[in-house]
Amino acid sequence: MRKPAHPWRASTDVDPASLVFPPGFLFGAATSAHQVEGDTRDNNWAEWEDSGHAARCGRAVDHWRRFEEDLALMRWLGLTAYRFSVEWSRIEPLPGRFDDQALARYRQWCEALRSAGITPMVTLHHFTEPSWVRGGFENPGTCEAWVRFVEHVATNLADVVDHWITINEPVGYAVQGWWRGEWPPGRTNPRAAIGVIENLLVAHAEAYRVIHRLDGSACAVGLAHNIVIFEPRARFNPLDRFAAKRVDAAYNHAVLTALATGRFEVALPGLRHRADLDHVRGTQDFLGLNHYYPITVAARPFTAEPLRVGFSDAGETNDLGWSLEPGSLVAALDLAAPYGLPILVTEHGTCDADDPDVRRRRYLGDSLRALSNSISNGADVRGYFHWALMDNFEWGYGFSPRFGLFRVDYDTLDRTPTSTAEFYRRVIAANRGTGA
Ligand code: FCB
Repeated sequence: MRKPAHPWRASTDVDPASLVFPPGFLFGAATSAHQVEGDTRDNNWAEWEDSGHAARCGRAVDHWRRFEEDLALMRWLGLTAYRFSVEWSRIEPLPGRFDDQALARYRQWCEALRSAGITPMVTLHHFTEPSWVRGGFENPGTCEAWVRFVEHVATNLADVVDHWITINEPVGYAVQGWWRGEWPPGRTNPRAAIGVIENLLVAHAEAYRVIHRLDGSACAVGLAHNIVIFEPRARFNPLDRFAAKRVDAAYNHAVLTALATGRFEVALPGLRHRADLDHVRGTQDFLGLNHYYPITVAARPFTAEPLRVGFSDAGETNDLGWSLEPGSLVAALDLAAPYGLPILVTEHGTCDADDPDVRRRRYLGDSLRALSNSISNGADVRGYFHWALMDNFEWGYGFSPRFGLFRVDYDTLDRTPTSTAEFYRRVIAANRGTGA
């Protein structure tokens, strides 16, 4: 097993006052519509759940109706930003037919957030599409339909939103849905997955231009890219090292390179793809970075699975077996830095069902210390959004993983602050005075 680049020992709690963030730093939390709102029944995920592939999301945590209560939680934390997604199937229940009331509700959220001094960050696609969209983003027609939706949302929210995420984790959406078959539409065709990523890049670039046309040049538009740190399973095995590099190039860099240069290129064993997407070049105002874990890669040539990925069996793990390695956030920032854009950590966190959630609190403390050190060493990071504000529906895993700063009782839907929330609140209080 490779020695981690940033070794982590179980720490004692970090002193919030020892962390330093730049003026105006966004201290945020994140959610997505289907995972928290409740009653988002007319989308691809609800269909997937109905056909028995995943637990039913149902009323989720009823954020749609309890937003005001949840805003009080954000104020208690002292958040200066909140990232949420707008649900396409609510806003456009039938093709071309928009529900003004749904959009008005989101507008109300944005206004309430702004009045509370909390910057809204709106995600326009977070894994879900209305049921009338056939074939997801494998179907090029979806791009056209989605851009029309984006235009409608931006027309109505431009004056209250300045931070936009077009698409959440294009690679995650494509790999889970078209390669691994674990999410809708349940396909297992790697070539189709690459085509989906390409279509998402094109959709993103069009949305980027539409939003800037409607919201002016001062708004900030990006996508949330999932960065995974791939490490060779055996550090001294050249094949494992080569395999880790290949996966890193395909998973992390292909999208970032396409956004920077317009060249989209994937080269994996038995799978090569190259496209020139000139209109995609330069369509990010910031680099949105979602990061959760490092993963090991082993080369298994001449087998059905030539690249085997897995979690490290060394060190601490969370309730889902994900490696808890705070230094990997630094590795993700280092990976993103050469692209030369300001970085927003648009998602980071872990699940911890323990009460008190000591593992998560320490993981957050150590991760924020690592982040603060990186910033002191020159990393241009402008914000951090913890996933998630409250416990929620975790896709294929259902409700068992507890990712929330607030613990939700699923019988009463009561929210209770975790010890991580108390800690994050102290970090924000200690740093808001620096100009945030
Ligand atoms: C990310 C997703 C988010 C949530 C976290 C745990 O990949 O964007 O919706 O599921 O993982």
